Amino acid sequence: MKNFFSIEDIDDLYAIIKTSIELKNHPYDFQNCGKNKTIGLIFFNQSLRTRLSCQKAAFNLGCNIWSLDVNRDSWKLELHDGTVMKHTQEHIKEAISVMSLYCDILAIRTFPNLLDRDYDYEEVFFNKILSYSKVPVVNLESATMHPLQSLADAMTIAEFFPFLSKKKKKRCKVVLSWAPHVKALPHSVANSFVQCLSRIEEIDLTITCPKEYDLYEKFSKGIYTTYDQHQAFFNADFIYAKNWSSYRHYGKILHTSDDWMITKKKMELTNKAKFMHCLPVRRNIVVEDSVLNSPQSIVLQQAENRIFSTQMIFLKLLEFLS
Ligand code: CP
Repeated sequence: MKNFFSIEDIDDLYAIIKTSIELKNHPYDFQNCGKNKTIGLIFFNQSLRTRLSCQKAAFNLGCNIWSLDVNRDSWKLELHDGTVMKHTQEHIKEAISVMSLYCDILAIRTFPNLLDRDYDYEEVFFNKILSYSKVPVVNLESATMHPLQSLADAMTIAEFFPFLSKKKKKRCKVVLSWAPHVKALPHSVANSFVQCLSRIEEIDLTITCPKEYDLYEKFSKGIYTTYDQHQAFFNADFIYAKNWSSYRHYGKILHTSDDWMITKKKMELTNKAKFMHCLPVRRNIVVEDSVLNSPQSIVLQQAENRIFSTQMIFLKLLEFLS
């Protein structure tokens, strides 16, 4: 693996999930692997889990790690080409080139502009970073993808529904449910989740969302989609809640009422489903307190597993470098 941009960069997804679980049980098994190696984290957007889980993953591998919040710790960066830089101090080309001299792996979080769909979906900004970096690059969430989150999510599902075990088992129903939000949010978590879970044969994935919120069909093609949230929840084993802004009416918020919020009453339609969310989550907008506080909620396990799915990807890239 040279770079890690999306789930598509993984050949054997089952093996990666299995080894991530093994790393959780034995986190220090590869603690010499990162000796004298440095990982650089660059954030163009806020983060709690991604930043800290990357740091913990690097420590477990014996790596050095530094982290830069571009909006707070750096010169004001120019992101566009050909600009007369009256209002920005350093071009992204020099900034990324320099930072990649200071580490062996770069890991970067960007964000969509949610204005220009082609620009976001062609991942223009992330590709620019790839072209400037002299070292492997890990996607910590780009305009359209959040693969480390999805790996942690798949790992969490595997812990509750052991699809990796060789024993014959029943199938499992996972529902990705749109939920309300006050801000226009990216599609990255939803896109990557669908991309990841659709590769797990034992899982029947359903997407449910209001009509105007269909995901880009490159991801949703072949996945059962319903605009009836109650029908979707029936007999589900996992409910994964997430807001995303409209794809068709790009970046727009078209639905503002709370009728899609995840409630205790809706969870009663399920097969005692586990509740999942990538966090951060707005309580009583996305999901009722009573669901998030219940034993059905596994959001903390998901957050914990961010360490080990990330450790797994760092390990793969370190192996590539050695
Ligand atoms: N889930 C997730 O990516 O969290 P952060 O935005 O806090 O990193």
